[in-house]
Amino acid sequence: MEKGFHQPALAKLAIEYLVHNQEGVYVDCTLGGGGHGYAILERTSPRAFLIGIDADPEAIEYAAQRLSRFSNKYLQQAFFDQLEVVLHEAGKHPVDGVLYDLGISSFQVDEERRGFSYQSEGPLDMRFDPRQKVTAAVVLNGYSQEDLGRIIREFGEERHWRAIAREISRRRETAEFRTAGDLAAVVRSVVGERFLNKSLARVFQAIRIEVNRELERLRASLEAAFQVLKQGGRLVVISYHSLEDRIVKEFFREKYQSCVCPPELPACVCNKVRELEILTRRPLSPDEEEIRANPRARSAKLRAAEKIVPYREGQE
Ligand SMILES: C[S@@+](CC[C@H](N)C(=O)[O-])C[C@H]1O[C@@H](n2cnc3c(N)ncnc32)[C@H](O)[C@@H]1O
Repeated sequence: MEKGFHQPALAKLAIEYLVHNQEGVYVDCTLGGGGHGYAILERTSPRAFLIGIDADPEAIEYAAQRLSRFSNKYLQQAFFDQLEVVLHEAGKHPVDGVLYDLGISSFQVDEERRGFSYQSEGPLDMRFDPRQKVTAAVVLNGYSQEDLGRIIREFGEERHWRAIAREISRRRETAEFRTAGDLAAVVRSVVGERFLNKSLARVFQAIRIEVNRELERLRASLEAAFQVLKQGGRLVVISYHSLEDRIVKEFFREKYQSCVCPPELPACVCNKVRELEILTRRPLSPDEEEIRANPRARSAKLRAAEKIVPYREGQE
């Protein structure tokens, strides 16, 4: 597979779990540079169909070029919680598989002007979709100290959340936050050298998650994906940090569970049935060879599941 915009993580495994019908309809909810999308189209028949979604118009543009030799596709800029809308526009539902490769692409991290990297001096932007009003600068200059603390604690799992939020709030009294360097300087002033890079990564992750409402969109989208799947359809999710992975794991568990009645009840009254079979008992990770070739895949975790109840028209 060619390098460039972004090297897809766990591509071989993802396709093995996702593609079970050579002529199926597949959705790549995080098209990015089209690496996984390309692999899906390459390994299926020309009668298969790919729907590619990404919130970032630059990703859609790049992927459209990369996938130009395939005509059996529909690419759309959208947040993936709009999955059902996109499928209706494309006139393709139900579907055989839905794939997520969460987070950001190498291209986004490496582009200084996007402000995703704590090593950059780019503007505090961090939006996937440039049409959106909330940027990282809006969050840092406008949110209360309390909200900033909560975001850094919950979305960054950063130990020094309180001190960092306090310092952001103090500094902005004299000058607005404008660049990724301004935010990195605050973290540097609070956290010791030893764990600095980890803290920087956590704080930037937290702000990015807030700007793009990543976790709530993921929850909403997983439910939508489940609804649009055919019976036997596959859901494959690659995540990069524990917050994402927890949401996926809990979603799978909730759909896997049958009766949830309290044990003291003599008979089931909830009528809940198992709706999904979990295909990966534990999340799968890249092997050493892949990590050597693509160090950014190091934290990738893949979970896959199969829908075992019929698709119901009108339920999406
Ligand atoms: C890790 S990259 C995907 C790379 C892709 N699999 C490839 O092989 O090139 C993640 C992509 O998902 C997009 N993304 C993240 N959250 C999104 C969301 N809620 N809705 C739509 N796209 C999203 C990002 O813009 C980024 O392009």
